Amino acid sequence: MSETPYSVVEQWEAHLRERYRPNRQRSEFRNYEQTTPGVRELYRQNHMRQTRDFVLAKKAEYTRLNKAKMSVWEAMAALDTLVDDSDPDTDLSQTEHNFQTAEAARRDGRPRWFILAGLLHDLGKVLCLFGEPQWAVVGDTFPVGCAWSEKIVFHEFFAENPDRNVPQYQTKLGVYSEGCGLDRVDLSWGHDEYLYHVLKPYLPEEALAIIRYHSFYPCHREGEYTYLMNDRDRELFYWVREFNQYDLYSKSDDRPDLTSLRPFYEDLVKEYLPAKLDW
Ligand SMILES: [Fe+2]
Ligand SMILES: [Fe+2]
Repeated sequence: MSETPYSVVEQWEAHLRERYRPNRQRSEFRNYEQTTPGVRELYRQNHMRQTRDFVLAKKAEYTRLNKAKMSVWEAMAALDTLVDDSDPDTDLSQTEHNFQTAEAARRDGRPRWFILAGLLHDLGKVLCLFGEPQWAVVGDTFPVGCAWSEKIVFHEFFAENPDRNVPQYQTKLGVYSEGCGLDRVDLSWGHDEYLYHVLKPYLPEEALAIIRYHSFYPCHREGEYTYLMNDRDRELFYWVREFNQYDLYSKSDDRPDLTSLRPFYEDLVKEYLPAKLDW
């Protein structure tokens, strides 16, 4: 894995933007396999190590929310300290990405909770500050405890995952039942699921779905695992898909002016969240 603890996080997002770039040619569909060695290694580690036991242990550890007390602004500033300045793929800071996503939603007249979800959606990456390796912070998420969809990128790396040897986990439904609802499904561990637990008491269900499932590309972009969803999930995924365009396609050339935007976002954060959050 990379020497710098955070650079692959940024490379992974550049990789997602490339993979889901609109109007790409059919011949480019599998170009993701020629991604950077860092991203490839991120997927290899992720697919090899995200077992059901690993996910359940991380959930038990982090949902106690006893790691830190931080405001949204402290979390955002802390994330910016992780960025490797020498990384040529990093053109926006994490804070700039957050503001840019939120601003793109705001320009389109999205509701206030939607704009707020844009601002907050990646703050779960503070997992890096708590010492988690990048493969346990980012990566497309997928259910554990049932068969891995063939449409998960770098599917071949699951060959090294020990859950391969648990017959129950290799069936379509695995430990789940048809239509059980995604709330009962354990997804691979990362910044999405973590932030969902941090913000759960405060945000509307739609914003929480955006936060919890924004990296669940096998489902919201590839249409896989729909048999685990219930009717409410299907309604909420409308918002997850609407959100994805702002996360992926906001343009890096219109850099947000953080100073002038800050008052609007301070008000928005205060409207929904307490001064300090439990992390
Ligand atoms: Fe994210
Ligand atoms: Fe993002």
